[in-house]
Amino acid sequence: MKRYERLADEIAGLIRSGVLAPGERVPSVRNASRIYGVSPSTVFQAYYLLEDRGLILARARSGYFVREHAQRPLPEPEIGPRSTGATEVDVSDLVFSVLDSLKDPNTVPFGSAFPSPDLFPLARLARSMAQSIRALPPHAVITDMTTGNPDLRRQLALRYMVSGVMLPPEELVITTGAMEALNLCLQVVTEPGDLVAIEAPAFYATLQVLERLKLKAVEIPVHPRDGIDLGILADRLAQLPIKACWFMSSFQNPLGASLDAEKKRRLYALLQRHQVPMIEDDVYAELYFGIQPPRPVKSLDDEGLVMHCGSFSKCLAPGYRVGWVAGGRYAEQISRLKLMTTISPSVPIQAALADYLQHGGYDRHLRKLRHALETQQASMLASAARHFPPNTRVTRPGGGYFLWFEFPQQVDSLQLFQQALAQGISLAPGPIFSATRRFGNCARLNYGHPWDVRSEQAMAVLGRIIASF
Ligand SMILES: Cc1ncc(COP(=O)(O)O)c(C=O)c1O
Repeated sequence: MKRYERLADEIAGLIRSGVLAPGERVPSVRNASRIYGVSPSTVFQAYYLLEDRGLILARARSGYFVREHAQRPLPEPEIGPRSTGATEVDVSDLVFSVLDSLKDPNTVPFGSAFPSPDLFPLARLARSMAQSIRALPPHAVITDMTTGNPDLRRQLALRYMVSGVMLPPEELVITTGAMEALNLCLQVVTEPGDLVAIEAPAFYATLQVLERLKLKAVEIPVHPRDGIDLGILADRLAQLPIKACWFMSSFQNPLGASLDAEKKRRLYALLQRHQVPMIEDDVYAELYFGIQPPRPVKSLDDEGLVMHCGSFSKCLAPGYRVGWVAGGRYAEQISRLKLMTTISPSVPIQAALADYLQHGGYDRHLRKLRHALETQQASMLASAARHFPPNTRVTRPGGGYFLWFEFPQQVDSLQLFQQALAQGISLAPGPIFSATRRFGNCARLNYGHPWDVRSEQAMAVLGRIIASF
């Protein structure tokens, strides 16, 4: 990362956290150059970048100012530290009705789980596909099914190394998306009837997997900014025979919450003390807006307790269905279970991704994608402030592409979902993220699509429906 990019990220962080308020003047170029010990031209480049991201604007002869919408326009939600005992899970019908709503391409996709396909380098990937299939050694078509494509595993191990995790490539099992990885991990460490600690709210597929495997959920509340409540987790681990934890430590879906480094250390210490394995779902890891990628809990794992699951679905190649797990001490069992069930993701697709990672400019693509997502987040936040009731609360995550809205208490988000759908707008209502159907006045909205007039009009329509409750 260049110096001006680093400086721009630092100032963007001050704006996000509210240290620099909307309308406030940012330090003059001369002052910033002195404070940060960089040249005036570096400061100019950083300010141009921040202007480009929609965070500051230049006023003639007055300098640079924080844009009105650049800071949190609505307050953050508060999720109370409520936690239930063990719960049976039954959410699938509700989830499928929401997923069905996304099939119509004319629907405004605020309920989608993916960013816009236009943000992905699909043409470049297609070139990698053609080249790699031509170059695929005949024997690889068979051998790569059991081991995974060796180049892809090597590339992944290299990326882990850069983010501070030393892994032998053998620990990596390539899977059909992260979903398969997560399923395999859970099956390896649980039996039907077992208790699994999950987040509340949680990614709805987590709930569906528990439902299918007849596991019971122990819901641990997640704070919208700082992540799971470690006090409650510590109590539950001490009181209940929890067999596994399934958590997202960065950019949690649906809240966007992240644990800081200290909280990750405390979480890992708890796992160690109770010898409970953790499935770390980290599919949004590459979509950070800050200077550095957040380090996963896996980076602390010297006992092999953490199964770290990743995917290309959210940041590079949706629909290619390639994910992976760094399985720690469970890697061998995970690999065997995979061979007994799906055997392998498509070998040519793995080869295409390996080729792209080596030659396609992945990091350049990721920088562009993060930039687009951060800008789109600012647009959705500004739009929400314009159109939603002022007592609406909203998160402001430092990565990913979801905002979580907490509407006034009387708003029923399932009804909101139906009424919005009738007007061609999808959203993800709160109850699909809870085993106990909580979060009835909340919804997750996706800002992963380039912001345009249609998005703005859809927010206005949503605002009118919300106000009508
Ligand atoms: C939190 C989370 N984990 C896992 C997945 C599944 O990822 P994949 O498409 O790679 O199976 C998703 C996709 O929506 C997700 O949001």
